[in-house]
Amino acid sequence: MTTTEWNLARNQWLGVSEESVQADSRIYEAMRNFWHPVMFAEDLGSEPAQAMLCGEQLAIVRLDDEVRAYKDLCAHRGTALSLGTVVENNGCQELRCAYHGWQYDCEGRLTAIPQRPDLVGKIRARVQTYHAVERYGLIWVCMAEEPHFPMAEFPKFDDPEYHTRTMKTVDWKCTSPRRVENYLDLGHFAFVHDGYLGDINHPEVPDHAVWREGHVLRIEQLEPNKEPVNTKFESDIEDSEIDYQEDSDEAYTMSDQEWWVTMPLTVLLHQTLPGDRHYYLFFHPTPLTPDTIRNFTVHARNYGDADKIDEEVLNFSLTVYAQDKPIVEAQRPEALHRDLSYELHLQDVDTVSMQYRLWLGELVEELVVDA
Ligand code: FES
Ligand SMILES: [Fe+2]
Repeated sequence: MTTTEWNLARNQWLGVSEESVQADSRIYEAMRNFWHPVMFAEDLGSEPAQAMLCGEQLAIVRLDDEVRAYKDLCAHRGTALSLGTVVENNGCQELRCAYHGWQYDCEGRLTAIPQRPDLVGKIRARVQTYHAVERYGLIWVCMAEEPHFPMAEFPKFDDPEYHTRTMKTVDWKCTSPRRVENYLDLGHFAFVHDGYLGDINHPEVPDHAVWREGHVLRIEQLEPNKEPVNTKFESDIEDSEIDYQEDSDEAYTMSDQEWWVTMPLTVLLHQTLPGDRHYYLFFHPTPLTPDTIRNFTVHARNYGDADKIDEEVLNFSLTVYAQDKPIVEAQRPEALHRDLSYELHLQDVDTVSMQYRLWLGELVEELVVDA
């Protein structure tokens, strides 16, 4: 069986047309127009580092205290610039290739050819550079000439009242929009996260509102969020806050929940607990390749023991991620369907994902030629 025949057979099994699969893959192409975190700022030392975004290898480096992103490919013999070093040239820091020492300034212009200095300025060589910014403990890159939307807001990251922690990244074999939908899926907590974020005896989805606000998809849960109490940490609850059920041994903690989805991939969850306690979960699944993502997560909370946030929040999140991973990696087709008629949607249950898909489709139409 040829690859084409295999793809046709597979699409038939999936119940989708070849055109639809191709249209869905345009979502990935559109991702170049937005900001994505590619690494944690603390992992970038004084020398270049390698990162991956939308199928391209990048060399990330700090030059004169500014983060820079280069295509990780020297114009001379194609080795990785991320193997290079930072050097001084006329009072500015530049990136020097490890192979033959060609140098590039912060805009990617060739400034030195050690073997033939006379040719500098005569050879039209330049390495592609991209927008790069350091924010919220992350290095962000946008590969388009101009980012289509501003970067997501996360004001609590710099608030001294909050303890913040970045979480070790994990790579998944799936597409970024599938992962965002999973993050926002209010119907899966009872099944995938029974005893953690939901209760299998109460699969009902709480009433919620979804609307657009600028470039952000806003979601607000209109009734209190109930989470099983047994996995909560001491700093999350006080006995007076626990909602004990009269007719069973179930007990819950209550919180208010809202989300900001800076389109298309950055999710900020805000939980308000009694006693003016707030927890923020900042999340972005960066597309490394068409079918691989890197989960970037930052936590912030204004309560509890600062030294315990790792143990309490990070370990809990890793458990929750491990519960989601096999489900999301198994979704077919891998790309999110832009055509809503291909999957079934429940009113008041799948509203968020329907709104998300519609907006994603509009962005693709706008940004990808021939979509
Ligand atoms: S490959 Fe980079 S200088 Fe030769
Ligand atoms: Fe989940």
